[in-house]
Amino acid sequence: MNTETGKTALITGASSGIGQELAKLFAQDGYNLVLVGRSDDKLDRLADVFKSNYGTQQITVISKNLSEEDAAQDVYNQIKAKGITINVLVNDAGVGLYGLFATDTDWEREKAMIHLNVLALTQMTKLFLYDMLARNEGKILNLASLLSITPTPLMAVYAGTKAYVYNFTQSLVNELKDTNVTITALLPNATDTDFFNKANAENTKITDELQDPVMVAQAGYDALMSGKSKAIPGGLKNKSYEVMAYLAPQETLASLMREKMSQKPEPEPEKEASVSVAWGIGFGIAVIAGIALTIGYKNTSDFQKARYRYKAKSAGNALSNTLSSVLDTVVNGVVDAYQNTKEKAEKLATKGVDIEEDVVA
Ligand SMILES: NC(=O)c1ccc[n+]([C@@H]2O[C@H](COP(=O)([O-])OP(=O)(O)OC[C@H]3O[C@@H](n4cnc5c(N)ncnc54)[C@H](OP(=O)(O)O)[C@@H]3O)[C@@H](O)[C@H]2O)c1
Repeated sequence: MNTETGKTALITGASSGIGQELAKLFAQDGYNLVLVGRSDDKLDRLADVFKSNYGTQQITVISKNLSEEDAAQDVYNQIKAKGITINVLVNDAGVGLYGLFATDTDWEREKAMIHLNVLALTQMTKLFLYDMLARNEGKILNLASLLSITPTPLMAVYAGTKAYVYNFTQSLVNELKDTNVTITALLPNATDTDFFNKANAENTKITDELQDPVMVAQAGYDALMSGKSKAIPGGLKNKSYEVMAYLAPQETLASLMREKMSQKPEPEPEKEASVSVAWGIGFGIAVIAGIALTIGYKNTSDFQKARYRYKAKSAGNALSNTLSSVLDTVVNGVVDAYQNTKEKAEKLATKGVDIEEDVVA
């Protein structure tokens, strides 16, 4: 496409997920890039890919932990020193944390999260917005979340940070309305990135339905480019969440979100495996007993055959009962039942017709 050759977009959090997809869109459109994050090795590799795939002219990688004090100021200083003008700023870098606030979550992680999601984003916006206003040109995209507009038990601090991002961004939309600088908030629903793993929330029900980060990034990019105040990717369903968030009482929303943030029911693989083992063993018992009965039946007189048929029927019932009890007791009982019946069947095979009490017992 190369519609914006010569302009530069700065993207935080471009090393993975939504940020990486956004970076790709800028590269495809001919932007030069400044990629900021902790994983400079990943960002370097990404830079190589963009250069060879899209012919990106200039890519600057700045290795920075944005949870550290004045990290944003340091990034800004480095960019100034290199003489780069930032035409588009994307504040994507962000983390979450799962757990009950009072008892589960770690304060150091929460502090770092607030620093990254709130302080760094705010300071980056302050520093680059000032220059954009001086030129009366520029665009900013801030990563909020659908959780920005709902209380979210079990991710209380994260949702709080995203509520801040959304509110802050909408306030600036108003402050900037008479300028050529625009600011946009992106509010994705749960998206298929590494976010939930890193937040220890990978087994929550909310992860049952994850959106495609490519779709999310494209929706954000389009809204940013057209200067919209916000974007809620994912069609009518997600937009209806927004309507509900404004209409429903906060307590109701909190209950709804508590349910969505709760853990998925544990799968029961062991039980399922045990049941199939039980069926397998039960089948084995029937086969062994069947062989034994057949051998015994062949080697006997007519009178004994009659008795044998009666006893064999009883034995079948006993085996069937054994199988039922095997299935009931699943693990422990099955091993005992198997051993007992196997011994009896082996006895039968060696003793011929002498089956009476043994098999029925
Ligand atoms: N996934 C979702 O369901 C979802 C929904 C709504 C909003 N969001 C928001 O979307 C944004 C992107 O998240 P994602 O889903 O794409 O998750 P992700 O794949 O985990 O990406 C997070 C990005 O943030 C960077 N980052 C994390 N800590 C950093 C730090 N201290 N300093 C600098 N960079 C840091 C990471 O890079 P390094 O670790 O390499 O530094 C990574 O590039 C976040 O703001 C998140 O809150 C996500």
